[in-house]
Amino acid sequence: MAYKVAVLPGDGIGPEVMEEALRVLDAVSRRFGLVFEYREAPVGGVAIDEKGMAFPNETKEICDWSQAILFGAVGGPKWEDLPPEEQPERAALLPLRKRYELYANLRPALVFPPLITSSPLREEILGGKGFNILVIRELTGGIYFGQPKGIFQDNGKKKGIDTLIYFDWEIERIARVAFQAAMKRKKRLTSVDKANVLTSMVLWRDVVKKVAQDYPQVELNHLLVDNAAMQLIRNPLQFDVILAGNMFGDILSDEASMLTGSIGMLPSASLGQGKGLYEPVHGSAPDIAGQGIANPLATILSTAMMLRHSFDQDEAATAVESAVVSVLEEGYRTSDLYRGKGKLVKTQDMGNLVAGKI
Ligand code: IPM
Ligand code: MG
Repeated sequence: MAYKVAVLPGDGIGPEVMEEALRVLDAVSRRFGLVFEYREAPVGGVAIDEKGMAFPNETKEICDWSQAILFGAVGGPKWEDLPPEEQPERAALLPLRKRYELYANLRPALVFPPLITSSPLREEILGGKGFNILVIRELTGGIYFGQPKGIFQDNGKKKGIDTLIYFDWEIERIARVAFQAAMKRKKRLTSVDKANVLTSMVLWRDVVKKVAQDYPQVELNHLLVDNAAMQLIRNPLQFDVILAGNMFGDILSDEASMLTGSIGMLPSASLGQGKGLYEPVHGSAPDIAGQGIANPLATILSTAMMLRHSFDQDEAATAVESAVVSVLEEGYRTSDLYRGKGKLVKTQDMGNLVAGKI
């Protein structure tokens, strides 16, 4: 039986990194005898150019058909002047997350041992050890989706509104994902909120505390988001799993990713009831698109998350991750990771190297 995968390369470096991810999956397919059926579809700016909208019907149908969606990146200067609601991010990525109720966004930020020197943190902070944080971000609620939203007239003045709403059941289901993840790791969970100011975050903290009663082995603590941002830089080693709402999770996951050395290393999984969506945390990087120098490892590592979470192929997932580590250990670096030592390689070389290790 073939695993059905929708392939949505998108814009900028999306197609380049996707090509390498598929190359690695081909190697996985040969080594483990897995069969993938791919259907590719346009999304984001390329879809606007080809079909007049960022998330066209054909693309929706292919995503509906699939068991898992591999996503590259969307957006770029070419589409920045469109009305906000037509732009790739708002018109493709957010509806995609909502359509499949992909409420749980898993963003592992870990420093691979060979890359400790790529981290901008001083060695005394990392203690030569590197860190391994899993950011779990609520992805289909909060201020991203709350109503009312828009620019309205108010007594001859314009006002822009976004609404931060969380229902108890939304907090509960994402908290359960976080506790369960913590149970499989070091059993430490940090819930991030802003309960000293925001009422929705008072509820957030209450619900997380309630869910905690079902997971007595997990050590739970609560951090205000500003403090969490600071603690991440001061001592990232203190964290195991971080749980946050949509916007705080967006911000903290970028911060955590940069601490690993490059956002080009970070994969993600967005999970809901059935389907999963897998994408690198980085964007479309229009400044380097088309040059063949982008780091494909985040997308390659996203395929590992797909193998694990959508297809229950742990062994294959681990093989991909180990292949990445050994290529890094051998000193190969794309330009984002290159610090004067090692072997500077291009996007395709990196894909070939990883595929060769599978
Ligand atoms: C992310 C991105 C998106 C987000 C943008 C592109 C809409 O920053 O996935 O982190 O804010 O969720
Ligand atoms: Mg972001």
